[in-house]
Amino acid sequence: MLSFGSLASFILVGCAISARAETHTIEFVNNCGFGTPILEQNGNVLSTGAPFTINGPLIDAIAYLQTVAGNCGLEGQGCTIIVINLINPTSPGTNSNVSISLTPPAAFSVTTGYGFFNGCDGEGADCTNANCPAAETNGIVPVNPPCATDNVNLAITFCD
Ligand SMILES: *[C@@H]1O[C@H](CO)[C@@H](O)[C@H](O)[C@H]1NC(C)=O
Repeated sequence: MLSFGSLASFILVGCAISARAETHTIEFVNNCGFGTPILEQNGNVLSTGAPFTINGPLIDAIAYLQTVAGNCGLEGQGCTIIVINLINPTSPGTNSNVSISLTPPAAFSVTTGYGFFNGCDGEGADCTNANCPAAETNGIVPVNPPCATDNVNLAITFCD
């Protein structure tokens, strides 16, 4: 029979493993009627519109709506960019944060917004024009609230 001590350590190990299983999903909603959502990180395309799940943090990824003619550069040059950091807050100052960037070489292309879900629901931002206050323009970063909930997910919407 399992002693109390070994049962307790079994439970502790189980909790430690489940606490380490970080996961984040990014979903796209494209209401534009054209274009292809792109999720990109370090030159690699991670999604062209399908939900993308990563088992771990997702740091310095970007998303944008590629046009039919392919006007956006691979890094979203010429288009509205969403800059994505999804990470479980393991230490003070670490958080998930997402911003909309119109800082050149990015430029306003289509209405683009994001919202957290599975945590920080209702937090997000939307950019409907080239002067939208929610977006980073010319390197000036607005204070979009970060999210400190584990395993938070992100929805990105074009033409909402
Ligand atoms: C956004 O998250 C990344 C990864 O945790 C972090 O390095 C960066 O400092 C955060 N930025 C802000 C403005 O909180």
